[in-house]
Amino acid sequence: MSAPAYRTALGELLARPHRPLTLTEGISIEGLPTPALLLDEGALMRNVEKMAAFLGAQGKGFRPHAKTHKCPEIARRQLASGAVGICAAKISEAAVLMHAGVDRVLITSAITSAAKAELAAELSGLGQLDIVVDSPLGVKLLGDAMTAGTGDELGVLIDLDEEMGRTGTRSDDVAISLAEQISRTPGLKFRGVQHYAGHLMHVAGFDERRSRSLALWERVSARVDRLQAAGHPCSVVTGCGTGTFNIDCEVPAVTDLQVGSYVFMDQEYLLIGGRDSDRFDDFEVSLTMATTAISEPLPGKAVTVDGGFKAFASDSVPPEPLDMAGSRFRFAGDEHGVLIFGAGTQQPTLGSVQRFITPHCDPTVNLHDAFWVHDGDRVHARWPISARGCSW
Ligand SMILES: Cc1ncc(COP(=O)(O)O)c(C=O)c1O
Repeated sequence: MSAPAYRTALGELLARPHRPLTLTEGISIEGLPTPALLLDEGALMRNVEKMAAFLGAQGKGFRPHAKTHKCPEIARRQLASGAVGICAAKISEAAVLMHAGVDRVLITSAITSAAKAELAAELSGLGQLDIVVDSPLGVKLLGDAMTAGTGDELGVLIDLDEEMGRTGTRSDDVAISLAEQISRTPGLKFRGVQHYAGHLMHVAGFDERRSRSLALWERVSARVDRLQAAGHPCSVVTGCGTGTFNIDCEVPAVTDLQVGSYVFMDQEYLLIGGRDSDRFDDFEVSLTMATTAISEPLPGKAVTVDGGFKAFASDSVPPEPLDMAGSRFRFAGDEHGVLIFGAGTQQPTLGSVQRFITPHCDPTVNLHDAFWVHDGDRVHARWPISARGCSW
């Protein structure tokens, strides 16, 4: 990897810890420095195993997305539960995972720079690396890097867009010509396609979500047929997310699902409703935030807690007070939030720990260095979020 900026940035990332730290003496949640990101290990593992078993029973692969947790320890556990591979959103996230021993990674965003292609070629020597493309430039850069580098083979998938308008190509001609370009480039191996309909993941109501997602997949399946008829067999047709985990598995063409948020669940997902319930409760909430009540400017009505925009993501719904029906959270700046009591709620005392379901788990996790891993009230480990901030 020649570019000095990349060497510097990568060197810093790889110096971060990636192994879990076991706390020899368990500590109570009340003893943590707040705001503290809490991970219930039992709930996490039940979610991982439930998803693996569900997809296995549907004959689909499980390719969880690490953009949610950015944590090599969780990726290792997902692989141990039968995942066919782990997704990374960006090359830096893949680098952290692969250097920590996660050896089957798919990068789900395209690249268009020679330095990133060179890093991809380097990482392909650490395990099985696949990456999506949607432009001839991307394929050329990857091919050049593989020819010049030491990597064995880089798997390449074409990113197909239908409706979302974020990444991918909508043109079959472009897809076929990219597949041809990949197939004739030494060092690259054409694997198939990705289609991710992120705009459908939080559509409220199961039936609406199902009909919209299946309609899109019908179109994508026809595109896969055309690509295959043009002489490009697709061994991988990947995509999907938590919102459509029990919908997209109905699609015969889909080989594996890139589910991310199900490991933790968050308030945004809980609100969209599940197949049989107003609440999307197929998976447990394993991720919560502990804050401390630090001030009481409105006695009897609200307390101020020590978590605001720097503790919680603020791109969607507010954090949800845990086990305090009728109470709500209002952001009150970078460092603070206000917990407004519901009628009949027992009022928190100053100094007490107040917990919240996270609003949107991925960007909340990205604000923290590690998970405090607990079982009930006892915290027994700290797992580094080693790929925190890896957005390049
Ligand atoms: C390409 C891709 N695949 C999968 C996912 C996982 O989605 P979710 O967290 O909704 O399961 C995402 C999330 O943004 C994504 O961008």
